[in-house]
Amino acid sequence: MAETAKLTVEGKTYELPIVTGSEGEKAIDISKLLKETGYITLDQGYANTGSCISAITYMNGSNGTLRYRGIPIEQLAQHATFVETAYLLINGDLPSSCELTNFSDLLNTHSLVHEDMRAFFEKYPRGAHPMGILSSMVNALMAFYPEVPERTEEEEINITVARLISKLRTLAAMSYQISRGHRVIYPSHQLGYCANFLNMMFDSPVRPYDIDPDVVRALEVTLILHADHEQNCSTSAVRHVGSARVNLYAAISAGICALWGPLHGGANQAVIEMLQQIYDSGGDPAPFIGRARDKNDTFRLMGFGHRVYRTYDPRVPILKEMCDKLLTKFGASDPLLDIALNLEEIATHDPYFIDHNLYPNVDFYSGILLRAIGIPLNMFPVMFAIGRLPGWISQWRESIYDPGWKLCRPRQIYTGHKERNYIPVADRG
Ligand code: ACO
Repeated sequence: MAETAKLTVEGKTYELPIVTGSEGEKAIDISKLLKETGYITLDQGYANTGSCISAITYMNGSNGTLRYRGIPIEQLAQHATFVETAYLLINGDLPSSCELTNFSDLLNTHSLVHEDMRAFFEKYPRGAHPMGILSSMVNALMAFYPEVPERTEEEEINITVARLISKLRTLAAMSYQISRGHRVIYPSHQLGYCANFLNMMFDSPVRPYDIDPDVVRALEVTLILHADHEQNCSTSAVRHVGSARVNLYAAISAGICALWGPLHGGANQAVIEMLQQIYDSGGDPAPFIGRARDKNDTFRLMGFGHRVYRTYDPRVPILKEMCDKLLTKFGASDPLLDIALNLEEIATHDPYFIDHNLYPNVDFYSGILLRAIGIPLNMFPVMFAIGRLPGWISQWRESIYDPGWKLCRPRQIYTGHKERNYIPVADRG
């Protein structure tokens, strides 16, 4: 007999189905609760709410597990490329050699951006944050690359997906070059996805960019580690906006906006700003940890804490090792890395952080690695967006083909005024 949960409301007992996932995780299905009982559930921030059934990413916050389509993140970081990982997420399995070649060719074919889009960049104020620019540009792609009616929906989606993955990288690099007043470097057919991005970012007519395979690998790994994270804030935004059946570009643009926030993808920039503040104030993290512990202070340690992980984020040791490797190779040291290591050591032994299960998250070391690669600070959230794009696309695609698909439309408990009368302005006192 199927397992159920019992709920007693106003003396009446209801049986609610229990749904079990492939790793044994359980949910009480409340989809008929309102109809049957007249009650809704209340869960601010959705911390206990499963918003969908998904076969893409599995994470376990208690033991720090993260797998894409069943494959542990550690194996992908060691062996895969970002393009392979994107294919895996979007299509469900690793590509065969032929599928990988076709996918890479498709990415190359669609890597250029319509020349008229440059005008947008040029008219943005110089100080504009690249995440704002990127979300507008992605939204604008729909106008430049409208749907082609004679294609099947499947063909249309495959081309839109390739366009997005390829063009997001080109748009990001263009925004950087234009923001510096430099000429745009075009994508090259000869270069892979990550090498191409680095070249578009840093090549210059007066100083050709020397593509270092270790830097390319560091970027591959960073993007792989960011590629999906089940129903996080930006992915939920993509699914939510996409549930209204908007086009993929609009849904992804919404995801970029959500990711921009300092509590989410903007945290990698906020971490470096915090480490810099600690450095500027003499290098001692203790006062900052004291502020983070203080209930009357809104300050939080950036790069610490996670809604799901109650232990180490499994992406952190991989990034930390990459940081060490790259800095050692360059014979460089980064004072902010030393502060980060010290801060981690103190915070992870501090009773407040232990009691609250607060450990470093992916953003804590990704910024140091991005700095070592040469990425400018305000581009850090953009790098996160490039990495997260395959995850957003796969989640959007899964949602639109889900037979149980529904428009996302949560309920609320209203606590405002009871009905009252309109008072003409002259009588309002
Ligand atoms: N520093 C100090 N205290 C913290 C921190 C932190 N970074 N994070 C959580 N806490 C405390 C809260 O003050 C709260 O304490 P209380 O119960 O005594 O009042 C408790 O831990 C729970 O905090 P919530 O905000 O309810 O936990 P939630 O799951 O909503 O927060 C979040 C997760 C938003 C990531 C939070 O840990 C945070 O703000 N971290 C800093 C920003 C950050 O690094 N964001 C990146 C997250 S990873 C990602 O999105 C890619």
